[in-house]
Amino acid sequence: MKLRARLWRWADHRLGLGKIWRVVAKHGVPPETTSARYGWLYVLGFVTLGIFLLQILTGAALVTRYIPASESAFESIRILTGEGWSGRMIRGMHYWGASAMILFMAFHLARVFLTGSYKYPREANWITGVLLLVLVLAMGFTGQLLRWNQDGLWGVVVASQYAGRVPFIGDFLKRLILAGDVVGGATLSRFFALHVVIMPLMILALVGIHLALVQYHGISERPVPGEPVETATYRQKYDELLEREGKPYWPDAAWQEMVAISAVVLGIMVLAAFLGPRPLGQPPDPASVPSHPRPDWFLMWYYALLAVKPRGFEHATMVYLPIVTFLVLILLPLVRSTGERALSKRPIAVAAAAAVALSLGTLTVIGYRGPWVPDLDTPPFTAAELGDVPADAATGALLFHSHGCQYCHAVMGRGGQWGPELTDVTQRLAPGVITERIVKGFGEMPSFRSQLTAEELAAILAFLAAAAENGS
Ligand code: HEC
Repeated sequence: MKLRARLWRWADHRLGLGKIWRVVAKHGVPPETTSARYGWLYVLGFVTLGIFLLQILTGAALVTRYIPASESAFESIRILTGEGWSGRMIRGMHYWGASAMILFMAFHLARVFLTGSYKYPREANWITGVLLLVLVLAMGFTGQLLRWNQDGLWGVVVASQYAGRVPFIGDFLKRLILAGDVVGGATLSRFFALHVVIMPLMILALVGIHLALVQYHGISERPVPGEPVETATYRQKYDELLEREGKPYWPDAAWQEMVAISAVVLGIMVLAAFLGPRPLGQPPDPASVPSHPRPDWFLMWYYALLAVKPRGFEHATMVYLPIVTFLVLILLPLVRSTGERALSKRPIAVAAAAAVALSLGTLTVIGYRGPWVPDLDTPPFTAAELGDVPADAATGALLFHSHGCQYCHAVMGRGGQWGPELTDVTQRLAPGVITERIVKGFGEMPSFRSQLTAEELAAILAFLAAAAENGS
């Protein structure tokens, strides 16, 4: 016997390679998964898995240089990114990889939903998939904080402030997120442990179950209108279909997956090389101006939702919406486990999918350019703009800019639109009320108690009074 054959026989007898190969690679798949046209719809889950493995590699590389302590985290990323191309490349790949993973996970979910593949007997595939969706989004959220820059920090501060307003369990939720009363070193340690150890292990375990189930039930066949899923007959029909028309997974279906994952990894590398990672921005300074957080794009819709929701709907958006969405997703395959899979027979499913896609898209656009986004580029008022005002009002105008009020508030038509225009505020509200609102904060107006002295407050009020004069 040839050496190669003998080696193979030795390994096969000890490791069971032949059997594993037959099960994993040679099982039958429905013919359309191998078709040059429809086959691409069936590579999405595999691509998501491939990107996840890439995230583990680039993440492991980042961990070797990252210092998860509040004094050094930002600096360690800055150094890592600035130190030649490899650090920049790896961080860039981790950033774009995260985006790609979420994107492909969403495509995969959409495909499974639209082909009705969550129905009998694949309900558990879907449920493990929903858990993975939650974990992957949580990875995106925790990853933002690890950058430990202004954006990441305030993203978490804002999230925790909203969480704090939830009835009954608000304080608990807030402390759960922050690991304390304020965002700080303990928050960073908690997010680091979650992002680097706890959640990746959970994802790995769930991916294992998810894949075992995919293997066990087989890939769902193409939906045919008028052929609903029935618990009693589905299995037999499916087995007969594979018997009749099934193709071996390797190489018939696998080649498209290989092509797809190669293209996606290449795309991630090109983006990382040419655009680099997301700019790091400013180091965090919990005591300074609350710059408005710019979350990563995949969470933008949610922040936009929090910003545009009518006042008084905090609980609805923070608690009930996530819980209801989660329950609907988990229960979907249980209450709709049989019946038609073809889109032409599922008008409600089509409408629901379109509505969700439209809302997410709209909210994302609002998030990026809605008027609530603070105007960080607005320059301070010039002497010419102010005209003839008392000295303390001129000082107030500068403070109004340097303390970030102007990012959120317009005065005399200039400034951000997140908060109300303040030109005539001194005519609408008594000075005591204005002072109280600034000092204590309310709604989405942050508290400035620790940041403004009495003189500074007085100067800002003088400026607002002068603006009211000017404006009228
Ligand atoms: C992060 C954005 C943001 C920043 C920064 C900010 N504000 Fe506000 N402010 C708001 C929002 C939003 C409201 C409205 C809150 C509500 O009604 O729930 C508000 C309300 C107010 C009000 C009450 C206005 C009214 O008509 O009731 C005053 C006065 C005010 N801010 C002054 C200031 C001053 C002075 C500063 C700087 C020291 C400042 N704000 C910084 C967002 C901001």
